[in-house]
Amino acid sequence: MAVTVNAAVSLPSSKSPSLSFKSSISIPERINFNKSVLYSRNVSSGGNVISIKAQVTTEAPAAKKEKISKKNEEGVIVNKYKPKEPYVGKCLLNTKITADDAPGETWHMVFSTEGEVPYREGQSIGVIADGLDKKGKPHKLRLYSIASSALGDFGNSQTVSLCVKRLVYTNEQGEIVKGVCSNFLCDLKPGADVKITGPVGKEMLMPKDPNATIIMLATGTGIAPFRSFLWKMFFEKHDDYKFNGLAWLFLGVPTTSSLLYKDEFEKMKEKAPENFRVDYAISREQTNEKGEKMYIQTRMAQYAEELWQMLKKDNTFVYMCGLKGMEKGIDDIMTSLAARDGIDWLEYKRQLKRSEQWNVEVY
Ligand SMILES: Cc1cc2nc3c(=O)[nH]c(=O)nc-3n(C[C@H](O)[C@H](O)[C@H](O)COP(=O)(O)OP(=O)(O)OC[C@H]3O[C@@H](n4cnc5c(N)ncnc54)[C@H](O)[C@@H]3O)c2cc1C
Ligand SMILES: NC(=O)c1ccc[n+]([C@@H]2O[C@H](COP(=O)([O-])OP(=O)(O)OC[C@H]3O[C@@H](n4cnc5c(N)ncnc54)[C@H](OP(=O)(O)O)[C@@H]3O)[C@@H](O)[C@H]2O)c1
Repeated sequence: MAVTVNAAVSLPSSKSPSLSFKSSISIPERINFNKSVLYSRNVSSGGNVISIKAQVTTEAPAAKKEKISKKNEEGVIVNKYKPKEPYVGKCLLNTKITADDAPGETWHMVFSTEGEVPYREGQSIGVIADGLDKKGKPHKLRLYSIASSALGDFGNSQTVSLCVKRLVYTNEQGEIVKGVCSNFLCDLKPGADVKITGPVGKEMLMPKDPNATIIMLATGTGIAPFRSFLWKMFFEKHDDYKFNGLAWLFLGVPTTSSLLYKDEFEKMKEKAPENFRVDYAISREQTNEKGEKMYIQTRMAQYAEELWQMLKKDNTFVYMCGLKGMEKGIDDIMTSLAARDGIDWLEYKRQLKRSEQWNVEVY
């Protein structure tokens, strides 16, 4: 619940000389107040930007409602299968989802589980590639975010899907090196066996509230958990979950030819225009008005005020997944937004994290 205070505001404007009025300011309760704080923000009025400074006197905000942590939710299973005894599924489908002229290849694949790998949206599985490493030992597992909802792409809770980028790079000696597991996965043919461990992870579990605002920030294959969320929200029917909030996806990719699952997202928008928004940041084709490369945080900056207002609500949940580098970029824009309200972003983020409203899985 927000704390609302009335504040006397004076507007130093040539058009409205020394205007004074009562304003109602809504303050998110997660901001820690001492007994009194200086609350400051800019608003615009008739073309003038007005700085509002108000001496707000308030007792400490009411204690935050205790939420049931998603991490303690019943029925979330972790580590059912370990590397020594993995589940062996079969590849049912494997298809390249980036165009031929895209920089790099990303594949979408579906494995059979016969319902034996019970996962939730937002979890990951481990995969152990066939073959041996340089020391003659079995390969170590690699983690992959699950890209399907718990019902799976075929709607029968018998499959799990992944979205995998083929790793290929040139090393210091000029040799082309292929990543072990991503190449194993992208080359899998239908009918082939695949060793699966897990499921693992609780950070990216969805909020239970069907009326929540869910902001999803993805770079590249970081889209995987969000495809899983969005299928549950917009392509499925559940007796205990009917999404009626706002899902807002920001997806960053290098080129139009590397956009992932765009057709699905377009269908979702048609189905639920009031409940779903999607914005793309196509880094090697788009720039902002200053000519800067369009990264996901650059796109977010265009909606800065709207995003910041959303972040003040108790039922807004942000999820970030993909490249590690994106976290700093997003922190930078949040820092400048929060500063406008005189709020220290890092402290604010700590509180959001505590209430499971800021969820990050980057690598
Ligand atoms: C929680 C989690 C979820 C993940 N989800 C996904 C997912 O959904 N989809 C996905 O595609 N990946 C995902 N990953 C990454 C995935 O686990 C693997 O790391 C990735 O597929 C590469 O594994 P590999 O076996 O192909 O490469 P490896 O054989 O393990 O080689 C990777 C190593 O190569 C080296 N290397 C890589 N690039 C370069 C370079 N440019 N120059 C020099 N050296 C380099 C680095 O040492 C790196 O550690 C996730 C990771 C985590 C932790
Ligand atoms: N759960 C997880 O932890 C998880 C799940 C899935 C994937 N991942 C990881 O996510 C990464 C996704 O890589 P990908 O190869 O699939 O992506 P990709 O196709 O290369 O797309 C990544 C996009 O992010 C941009 N980018 C680069 N640096 C950035 C920065 N500092 N801030 C914001 N955007 C930036 C890239 O722009 P330019 O290339 O034009 O610079 C590109 O547009 C991989 O490292 C994968 O391992 C992690």
